[in-house]
Amino acid sequence: MNVRDSEVICGLLKNSGYKICGDEKQADVIILNTCSVRQHAEDRVWSQIGSFKKAGNKRLIIGVVGCMAKNYAEKIFERAPDVDFVVGPQDIHKIPEILSKISKDNLFERKVWEVDGSIRPNEIYHNSFYQEKEHAYLVISEGCSNFCSYCVVPFVRGRLRHRELKNIVKEAEDAVAGGLTRITLLGQNVNAYKDGDVNFTKLLQRLDKIAGLKQLTFFTSHPKDTHPDFFKAIRDSEKLLKSLHLPLQSGSDRILKAMNRGYSAKEYLALIDSYRKIVKGALLTSDIIVGFPGESEDDFKQTYDLVKKAEFNAAYIFKYSPRPHTEALKMADDVEKADKEKRHAKLLELQRGISNKKNAK
Ligand code: 5AD
Ligand code: SF4
Repeated sequence: MNVRDSEVICGLLKNSGYKICGDEKQADVIILNTCSVRQHAEDRVWSQIGSFKKAGNKRLIIGVVGCMAKNYAEKIFERAPDVDFVVGPQDIHKIPEILSKISKDNLFERKVWEVDGSIRPNEIYHNSFYQEKEHAYLVISEGCSNFCSYCVVPFVRGRLRHRELKNIVKEAEDAVAGGLTRITLLGQNVNAYKDGDVNFTKLLQRLDKIAGLKQLTFFTSHPKDTHPDFFKAIRDSEKLLKSLHLPLQSGSDRILKAMNRGYSAKEYLALIDSYRKIVKGALLTSDIIVGFPGESEDDFKQTYDLVKKAEFNAAYIFKYSPRPHTEALKMADDVEKADKEKRHAKLLELQRGISNKKNAK
């Protein structure tokens, strides 16, 4: 999502006469597009801001945009005095105007240009700036209303909003007309997509018809909105990759409940079993969190056993990181750091073995 947002920002700036510069030492403007999903992502940004000191270039403009802007707002100026402007993820379309104000007006006051998570204007997506030559990311929905108890996304990106079908189709058609042949649809939970009576399956079927488009895929699916009918649509599609990213998060029902995920370990297993039966050669990847508040050795063992059974082609494994605004923040972060590390290493090792075995095939 942030890769696409950065492209959108680059496209807007290019259309306003800016040039994208390969070397940060020569840049007049540096914009950090930030992520708040885990503490580690934020720590990296804080240390990077520190390296863009103005000593060498007093006219250098530094902006912090994205989820950290929403999360910290004014506090960014306290911690990083060289920052000139702060813009939340819903207001990235204002960046060209902000930059022209800053560069014209020497009396410009440092300011947070972030409001209340209003809807992004659709036009910003139609600026035909893509980092890759053949592949485009395409946002179909913004925000999330699932409120998994560990997750900051609903608070920093706002509640779920769907883009209109006609705008998505136009963006895809324009990308293909411009020579792109592969598209990845993006949303925090693409399977919840809706525009009138068009659901995600219908959206895929519509995009499948675009002449010249060779490959289509999507991120991310939530198990509670993923059904066998949808797997049939993957099977029957000409252009869809036979691949699904379906975050598990935990193999313990107790922890899944505390995470507010809306499914049990048994239901998850039944779902992936159905997926593999319906879609031939199906690839499956996942996300898992270890060390969620209250996770016992036994809960972890259930995750370990489920990962063994599930045989994911690949999985991202994260150590739980307490996040502001979330329900889980109210629970004690009581799994010792050393235990989190141990569980993380153990699961990584297990998954590495499974991935190697599967990939060798
Ligand atoms: N701590 C650790 N991992 C997290 N994720 C989301 N929030 C947190 C958190 N607070 C992980 C989930 C999600 C992925 C994108 O990041 O596994 O699926
Ligand atoms: Fe976060 Fe859950 Fe929404 Fe994914 S589905 S973005 S984990 S709240």
